[in-house]
Amino acid sequence: MKGFKNLSQILTLSGVHKKDGRGPVAEDLNIIEDGAVIYNDHTILWVGQTKDIPTKYQNISLRDGHGHVLTPEIVDSHTHLVFGGNRSKEYSMRLNGADYEAIAKAGGGILSTMKQTNEASRDELFSIAKKRIERIHSYGIGTIEIKSGYGLNIQKEIECAEIINDLKIEFKNNVQIFNTFMPAHAIPTGFANGREYLEKIVYPSIDQVHKKNIIDAVDIFFEEGYFNKEDTEQFFKFCQDLNLPLKVHADEFNDNGGASLACEYKALSCDHLLRTGSKGIESLSKSNTVATILPGTGFFLGKDQADARKLIDKGAKLSIASDFNPGSCHCDNLVLISSLAAPTLKLSLAEIWCGITLNAAHSLGLREQGAILQGLKPRFSLFKVGQVDEITYNWGRNFSVPV
Ligand code: NIG
Ligand code: FE
Repeated sequence: MKGFKNLSQILTLSGVHKKDGRGPVAEDLNIIEDGAVIYNDHTILWVGQTKDIPTKYQNISLRDGHGHVLTPEIVDSHTHLVFGGNRSKEYSMRLNGADYEAIAKAGGGILSTMKQTNEASRDELFSIAKKRIERIHSYGIGTIEIKSGYGLNIQKEIECAEIINDLKIEFKNNVQIFNTFMPAHAIPTGFANGREYLEKIVYPSIDQVHKKNIIDAVDIFFEEGYFNKEDTEQFFKFCQDLNLPLKVHADEFNDNGGASLACEYKALSCDHLLRTGSKGIESLSKSNTVATILPGTGFFLGKDQADARKLIDKGAKLSIASDFNPGSCHCDNLVLISSLAAPTLKLSLAEIWCGITLNAAHSLGLREQGAILQGLKPRFSLFKVGQVDEITYNWGRNFSVPV
């Protein structure tokens, strides 16, 4: 057994947990001042004020948390961090007026990262990704979802899934990694349409990684110019037959009904949602599919943001993730992204913390974390600040310290 005492604050989120992450308000943060927590490797055993530590735990040597705030672990539930090269030139082109979708049509975009990823060796991709994870972990983020999707051929996609699995093993003692398989990220040249690419490349590679038992979910880019509604439904059915949890990139450039489709197929999450209108918002608010917004992408591409206010007010489970990738959001710091997003998207502190902890974990099917409550998993983030407000108030500063 181990634990902390004298923590300046514990952000328990017990109210957020009780509401299953819907409509959180300030009281749901349930902050304990001068807090203590006792846990073993698997479970939180007790949480309360230091003065109330039960006698049976009084002999345990506890770390002194004075001047620190303990929060539920921050989860980045959407990244594409296994990739070769970079697209800094494209970013500058966009600043000069070029458009993301037009760059992609001209052979840039995802396909340019595909080329650079295929040119990199397995060892190179592993070591670049390892450094990226170390940096993300240094911000206090302890669970990271990672998608494949820049191999775009059977061999390299499987290699990327294996790299993510190797990273999962490498970091097993301090970072929880979630492996999402996403060969359905773009359609390389040489394929007549999405369906042909799905049938020739995506399904055979899913069959193989599924047999290796290394993936935790699948994802598809449902968008004009990528995979259409028929492709997406066929993909969902194929993956559901294998019992693979679904995730989807939807409604980023257009409201294509992606949110409603995600709910219909009981996807874990539906991500982006920049253009999702009333119908999609209505569907999300009635379902357990987590609505994951990626404000960093809106900022990076200079686009209007998702209607987070309406999603929350209607009752959807809203989560916030980075979308860290080389093209549409080259920012890996979810704490910074959330801090920046709050005033623009009109999100309260309770909504932000719910979005980067509990709902983010739920969007990965991880239901035993996301709050500091007896019986849940001891997955925490720790910050050297006197009160929780300081973490998102100080844009771009990193107060995280190892738990
Ligand atoms: O989530 N939308 C699809 N995929 C990424 C972009 C990837 C890229 O531009 O390389 C995203 O925004
Ligand atoms: Fe993405």
